[in-house]
Amino acid sequence: MRVGVLTGGGDCPGLNAVIRAAVRKGVQQYHYEFTGFKDGWRGLLTGAAVRLDIPAVRGILPRGGTMLGSSRTNPFKERDGVRRIRENLAKDEVDALIAIGGEDTLGVAARLWEQYGIPCVGVPKTIDNDLSATDYTFGFDTAVGIATEAIDRLHTTAESHMRVLVVEVMGRHAGWIALHSGLAGGANVILIPEQRFDLDEVCGWVTSRFRASYAPIVVVAEGAMPQDGDLVLKDAAAGLDSFGHVRLSGVGEWLAKEIERRTGKEARTTVLGHVQRGGTPSAFDRWLATRFGLHAIDAVRDGDYGVMVALRGTDVVRVPLAEATARLKTVPLERYEEVKVFFG
Ligand code: F6P
Repeated sequence: MRVGVLTGGGDCPGLNAVIRAAVRKGVQQYHYEFTGFKDGWRGLLTGAAVRLDIPAVRGILPRGGTMLGSSRTNPFKERDGVRRIRENLAKDEVDALIAIGGEDTLGVAARLWEQYGIPCVGVPKTIDNDLSATDYTFGFDTAVGIATEAIDRLHTTAESHMRVLVVEVMGRHAGWIALHSGLAGGANVILIPEQRFDLDEVCGWVTSRFRASYAPIVVVAEGAMPQDGDLVLKDAAAGLDSFGHVRLSGVGEWLAKEIERRTGKEARTTVLGHVQRGGTPSAFDRWLATRFGLHAIDAVRDGDYGVMVALRGTDVVRVPLAEATARLKTVPLERYEEVKVFFG
């Protein structure tokens, strides 16, 4: 039995931990062989592959990024994509595939299984934590930790200079990173994509914070939008990726300018960007990613394809890939309302 492994989409701390766990258990307990495909689905289209064995995965548990490389390649947008995938799987004699990725990568895996019978097992990763079938994705805890540390540090400058400091965090169309890091970091305003914000209300919170002789920290998710009208804040030059996503950017800068103009208080922006995806995974993410890897190889052993491993409470379960990729998990309104007591 030979198992293929690939990592697709944005990199994320914990990817290497999944690869290590699947290979360790697969080789030691089931005597499987492994092929790693390079750069996500691109490696399966081009045949770029490496052999994975236990020595190849030694020492990678604490390493961020992915030893296999990643890309946002969509094989369904490529000519003869499925035929090329089949050929490369056959060339390497790969019997089953573990795809580690977010909604896009797993959406491809779901389709390859459902429509073409290519045996896939999915593992959910993303710092955005926006996959509905799992309580948590690995990478999220690390990103929240990094953002929280940044907010802690920014408090001291905000207080010293009595400035408004706006922190723009990632998360695409979900506000999880903003919500968790904003709460953990004691932000005075948290703005998420799930609820459009009223600029007057934001300025009111900022002003009331100054009245209490403290300087405000405003955490804004990159996908957050004001009530009145859509901002064109995407990076227009970057266009769309092959899954149709825009590159979000700029709400933090825009917001700081508006706050400064309306309140007369100096406002500055820090965009955390890819720092949130970098570096070593937190202990929680290593734990979760390792367990996902172990359960993914068990699904392969059971011939249980078309599933994704998922965290439910403290258990790792299997859910149909189709269900897992059907909708995004966004922040429920009541969860957002809960933290508003700290605003202002
Ligand atoms: O999905 C993870 C993520 O980091 C999002 O939070 C962000 O919008 C996007 O990827 C950025 O993607 P890229 O690194 O391709 O610009």
